[in-house]
Amino acid sequence: MARLLAVDAVDHPWQGARVLVRADLNAPLEDTPEGRRVSDDARIAASVPTIRLLLEQGAAVAVCSHLGRPKGEARPELSLGPCAARLGELLGQPVELLPDCVGPEVQARVEALAPGQVVMLENLRFHPQEEKNDPAFADRLAAGFTHYVNDAFGAAHRAHASTEAVARRLPACAGLLLAREVEVLGGLLDAPRAPFVAVLGGAKVSDKLPLIQNLLDRCDRILIGGAMCFTFLAGMGDPVGTSRHEGPEAQKMARDLLERAGRVNCMLQLPVDVLVADRFDADADLQVVPSDAIPDGWMGVDIGPRTAAAYREAIAMAGTTLWNGPMGAFEIPPFAAGTKAVAEAMAASDGITVVGGGDSGAAVAQLGLTDEMTWASTGGGAALELLEGRTLPGVAVLPTR
Ligand code: 3PG
Repeated sequence: MARLLAVDAVDHPWQGARVLVRADLNAPLEDTPEGRRVSDDARIAASVPTIRLLLEQGAAVAVCSHLGRPKGEARPELSLGPCAARLGELLGQPVELLPDCVGPEVQARVEALAPGQVVMLENLRFHPQEEKNDPAFADRLAAGFTHYVNDAFGAAHRAHASTEAVARRLPACAGLLLAREVEVLGGLLDAPRAPFVAVLGGAKVSDKLPLIQNLLDRCDRILIGGAMCFTFLAGMGDPVGTSRHEGPEAQKMARDLLERAGRVNCMLQLPVDVLVADRFDADADLQVVPSDAIPDGWMGVDIGPRTAAAYREAIAMAGTTLWNGPMGAFEIPPFAAGTKAVAEAMAASDGITVVGGGDSGAAVAQLGLTDEMTWASTGGGAALELLEGRTLPGVAVLPTR
């Protein structure tokens, strides 16, 4: 994969530039007695190095982002105000939120920015043209700026005006976060350090099919957990009780994957035991059973201890471990042991460890182990699409070096 031209490698000075920075500040918010605030600032913190570099080098910056899915309408509860406040705290300088992301007032404010000053534009998705990748809207977004920097890896799988069309209107490059995400995740596909182990969980085989297909040719082992393992087990004719699983079509996909794994010499490993519950509740009765003998009326909620031990051992021997998707319903503490075992084994590994965003990223953060990983992606859907081998429109439009 070619290396993107990043903000620290351009051949022009940033002094005096007016830069539109697309970040992914789509962070969870919560209501508190003091007002609405960001409850997890990981994505905002991840966008700070690029913004700080530009400010320190004498650029003026306007940060733009989406927040939630307001579907083209200005919805006050999805204002970027709380994100602007948090970004200001992290940068140590005020970040004023402008009332819109386009229009003559915004353009005038951008043109009046002094070097080292930063503002934030209001939620891009308050305008329906953003998600339509509308060229006229991209013209309006670009108005008043001299350069565009895309640091929004989490939104790079969207061909939207702020991630795609605008990059064709201004001299463009990648931010530090986006460049690193593409380098690390792309590197896993191009030249992983062997043995390459992928740990895959999640609800559905059908959702993860393109990912598993792409990894089969590259991985030495794929360890399966999460509810999708019950689709595999059902496909092999094992009883799955009331475990969440998919129907005949997905079961056939699962069988095909097992068969193909054998052909390409990838060890596709399924749980040998599972934790089952009599209902989906923290107070449920629990037992550990062999994975081919789930009793009637019981549901699988986590991998079992023998499986967790085997997966730990595989991770300990791996040169590279990629993790996407929790091993069980980890948000319920009695069902979290398998997910915790994978996170801890990765944290203890001497190899390269990459967490592919989304729920597994949340699990690692909850366990306080994010800093122990080589890389924890900020992208959910974007990380998945990149690892599936797909081209991300927000990346494809950026120059390489
Ligand atoms: C995400 O949270 O994965 C990104 O911010 C993209 O959001 P979207 O799925 O609403 O486009």
